[in-house]
Amino acid sequence: MLISGLRKKQSMNKEAIIGVIGAGAMGSGIAQVVAMAGHTVVVFDANAAALDKAKASLTATINKLAEKGKITNADEVLSRFTYAADMAAFADCGLIIEAIIENLDIKKKVFADVEAVVSASCILATNTSSLSVTSIAAACKKADRVIGLHFFNPAPLMALVEIIPAVQTDAALVDTCKVLMTAWGKAPVITKDTPGFIVNRVARPFYGEAIRIYEEGIADIPTIDLAMTEIAGFRMGPFTLTDYIGHDVNYIVTETVFQSFFYDPRYKPSFSQKRLLEAGWLGRKTGRGFYNYADGITQPEPTKDVALGNKIAERFIAMLINEAVEALHLNIASAQDLELAMTKGVNYPKGLLQWCDEWGAAKCLSILDGLYNNYHEDRYRASILLRKMAAANKQFI
Ligand SMILES: NC(=O)c1ccc[n+]([C@@H]2O[C@H](COP(=O)([O-])OP(=O)(O)OC[C@H]3O[C@@H](n4cnc5c(N)ncnc54)[C@H](O)[C@@H]3O)[C@@H](O)[C@H]2O)c1
Repeated sequence: MLISGLRKKQSMNKEAIIGVIGAGAMGSGIAQVVAMAGHTVVVFDANAAALDKAKASLTATINKLAEKGKITNADEVLSRFTYAADMAAFADCGLIIEAIIENLDIKKKVFADVEAVVSASCILATNTSSLSVTSIAAACKKADRVIGLHFFNPAPLMALVEIIPAVQTDAALVDTCKVLMTAWGKAPVITKDTPGFIVNRVARPFYGEAIRIYEEGIADIPTIDLAMTEIAGFRMGPFTLTDYIGHDVNYIVTETVFQSFFYDPRYKPSFSQKRLLEAGWLGRKTGRGFYNYADGITQPEPTKDVALGNKIAERFIAMLINEAVEALHLNIASAQDLELAMTKGVNYPKGLLQWCDEWGAAKCLSILDGLYNNYHEDRYRASILLRKMAAANKQFI
């Protein structure tokens, strides 16, 4: 009762003080979003050097925005940041967003510790990409105040925020967070607490199927990338993108999603990517990944074969559509939120359900059934909802 009463009072107006735990890539970005939205933000990190680095980079970013004329109140925005070396500074916060290392035990400890210093009404959110929000909430005495708020990188530029109520979360919190994220200029979607939430689940074939096509020798790396950009219309091909994300990050998400889905073959990681990780070829940041970024290297040329490109693009798109349809079938999110997540979170050229409607569910089903009949692998099984939509010749949107 106390919690909901105070939550109503907060309704998270600009007076609410927001705490951020972890001043790394995500924590800094989220702190910037919070301060620019008009809140006082308290940033804490266990590592003093990380906190100093965040302070320097946030100050530089805000000043740069002012120089470019994007903001006129840099001093005011800068005055909203407090950098704290102790979690005691969170005492007056209305909402804490945790963005520390992706480790369940460490996150659980931090949630238990922070709960000891905040008020009974304080909402506790985690920015986890792949852990169970329910498990994190279980570390708290008032588990109903815990929720997932999954921002995308870089947080100030990416509009999408996945809101993930845990099993224990007070239902009213979902709406409070939705209103707050909208006030911060974000595009919130609501998703079930299942592995990968929306984006990191539905996008899996974009990476996994690319590597599979490459491993089978159907096409080489630049040809697959070209098919996905020039034919399918994605901003980056899967190999360019995973080199950019870093194979340490991308492979670990794939492996975590695979394990969390009780080893569903649809999400199986690949040896090619694991070997890159083992070699320390993490992508652009190490100068080598699927491509070699060393000075003087000429990148390999793609094969410009339209029929092959179309075949690759259609296989990918069918796999991605199937993931979105299955997520809808299992009530992971609404059709509208699935579309919003994939367009705003990973900049897909269009929503996957819309893509299915444009193709017709029957075309998508026939590609998947063709793959399934060839391979006899569960990885290519079509969603029952796709089958039903095709049989009824129905549209999703
Ligand atoms: N990087 C991304 O693209 C991305 C996107 C969405 C979500 N996430 C999630 O956000 C979280 C943070 O990721 P990141 O990329 O910002 O990591 P990061 O390594 O850049 O930053 C993590 C920060 O947390 C601090 N930290 C570690 N343990 C701590 C503790 N016990 N108490 C206080 N501070 C502690 C570290 O000193 C570091 O500064 C993870 O859960 C990650 O899965 C990351």
